Amino acid sequence: MSFYNSNDSIFAYMSKLANETNATNLSQGFPDFPVSETLIDYVCAAMKAGHNQYAPMPGLPALREALSKRHAEDYGHAYHPESEITVTPGATQAIQSVIASAVTPGDDVVLFAPAYDCYAPMVEAAGGNPVWVHLNPHDFSVPHQAFADAVNNRTKLVIINNPHNPCGTLWDEEDIRVLIDLQSKYGFRVLADEVYEKIALSEKGFSSFAQYAQLRPFTYLVYSFGKTFHATGWKMGYVLAPALLMSDLRHFFQFAVFSVNTPVQHALAKYVAEADYDAISTMYRSKQQTFQRAMEQTKFKPLMTKGSYFQLYDYSEISQRSDVDMAEWLTREHGVATIPVSVFYPNPPKDMRYLRFCFAKNDDVLLSAADKLSALQ
Ligand SMILES: Cc1ncc(COP(=O)(O)O)c(C=O)c1O
Repeated sequence: MSFYNSNDSIFAYMSKLANETNATNLSQGFPDFPVSETLIDYVCAAMKAGHNQYAPMPGLPALREALSKRHAEDYGHAYHPESEITVTPGATQAIQSVIASAVTPGDDVVLFAPAYDCYAPMVEAAGGNPVWVHLNPHDFSVPHQAFADAVNNRTKLVIINNPHNPCGTLWDEEDIRVLIDLQSKYGFRVLADEVYEKIALSEKGFSSFAQYAQLRPFTYLVYSFGKTFHATGWKMGYVLAPALLMSDLRHFFQFAVFSVNTPVQHALAKYVAEADYDAISTMYRSKQQTFQRAMEQTKFKPLMTKGSYFQLYDYSEISQRSDVDMAEWLTREHGVATIPVSVFYPNPPKDMRYLRFCFAKNDDVLLSAADKLSALQ
């Protein structure tokens, strides 16, 4: 029986429970390994050099230029540093700026469940109506017919998280073709939350929505330095969008935020230009394999992750508890904290038997978690 009360964030609840019970914490999505020394040195140097006052509203020009260049190298399209890039305090605030500037009261906004937890409350705060499409139940793929049935002329925005938290799925070519067809029919905008772009685990890698010329004029892309450089506590991110959309977004942003941490922007401007993004994917691929191999000694069944640092496991061979009860029981009785997948739904389907494990952890932590879970036969 769980003591979880849905007024609290499940992430805060599970981490607190993990601390209280001294459990291995694979629940909340943050890495437990350090930020690059070089990046930290760049921040200190920027502070010592006196870069400690307000940055320009849309972000430091040097950082926006570095991002534009890297994006063009990675995805073949250069967003204009002056008019198409804004630096934000984390991806969460970028998402809020997109929603607050795009959605007016009464607009429909299509969301895919399971969904990252901030989307629906932000849509509601802007007066919009969340319209939910449930991903297919067994593999969390995109249900084309249900998606087509959910959009119409009232649809202002479609929010897509790719790579996906919590499922680790990617939109494939066919899904994107369906999106392009529906967009050209109804004219909605797209918010692509691509915060896990650099944690591509499938052999094919990751395709950004920025690579699709048909989508670009209508699409906002949101990123997180916290996720990419494992510095989630710095709360730094950015948003890319065509100039017309960005101009509306900045009207909201300038009064909601105004500007973002100056010395960290100086440091990131240097670091983005030299960062080895392939090494980030390689590190996470190795962690995923280490964890999956270690979990083979358990009765948990993996759903293959293609991107993000989350891995879903089906526990139905072990227990028929609800996933919230199971997550709490595993933490208290077996010393491993996870996140139940049903909490990512407005109305969870019955009989969800999946837990989300975050593998952005040191290898000894991953091995110890798998070891503890192998006792459950
Ligand atoms: C899908 C998704 N989007 C956005 C965020 C928020 O990123 P940030 O910490 O940069 O605000 C997260 C964090 O967990 C996430 O999983």
